[in-house]
Amino acid sequence: MTPYYQDEWVTIYHADYRDTPWLNHGPIDCVVTDPPYTSGDIGKRHIKAGFEMVDVAWFNLALTLTANIAVSPGIANLWSYPPARWVLCWYKPGAPSFNKLGGYNAWEPILIYGKPAGRFGQDTIEQVPLNFKRGPEKHHPCPKPMKVWSWLIEGMSGPGSTIVDFFAGSGTTGICAKKLGRKAILSEIKEEYCEIAANRCSQSVMRFAP
Ligand SMILES: C[S@@+](CC[C@H](N)C(=O)[O-])C[C@H]1O[C@@H](n2cnc3c(N)ncnc32)[C@H](O)[C@@H]1O
Repeated sequence: MTPYYQDEWVTIYHADYRDTPWLNHGPIDCVVTDPPYTSGDIGKRHIKAGFEMVDVAWFNLALTLTANIAVSPGIANLWSYPPARWVLCWYKPGAPSFNKLGGYNAWEPILIYGKPAGRFGQDTIEQVPLNFKRGPEKHHPCPKPMKVWSWLIEGMSGPGSTIVDFFAGSGTTGICAKKLGRKAILSEIKEEYCEIAANRCSQSVMRFAP
């Protein structure tokens, strides 16, 4: 399968994650991914955006690649996954949504499996304000903030690691990986999002450590 985009650090396939040739790129150190949230209130805008329902079958495929997995599941899907080794918290008081208790939800869980190569000094990150929709990623309905995703990638991997993201969206995993000197292999089912991801990755450069 020919990649939609490729540079020294990032490979993007326009494909269903089930058909993507993950093993063509050597050993995989970790999976860092953000599947569509498809249940309850939290999922409505994703469904409106035309995302297909994704069950958690991707998790079993991930386990065939590596034991080290980080997933942002959305609170409503938390219990669909096996018990995690740890749960990280992304606190986002600047961007609350509704919760099922009639109040507001101001945090997102991130499930961690395996033994990540990096280190999370604290298991919580705060992002205020949530103002990341300025660049080309604004054309994707739910890009993850670079600050949060860089923290996650640094904790999950070491320099030179290879990271897989089954659900690339606007390519945040690819950009953060490249900036941090990690390789990333991504799949995204929608071509319009592959285009956004490819543009973002082609414009980002690797950042050398001081
Ligand atoms: C929550 S978004 C990921 C957003 C991403 N973290 C970012 O920062 O832009 C999930 C993405 O998965 C894609 N997707 C859904 N089903 C897929 C599948 N079977 N294979 C590959 N990508 C899929 C959707 O098109 C969507 O862009």
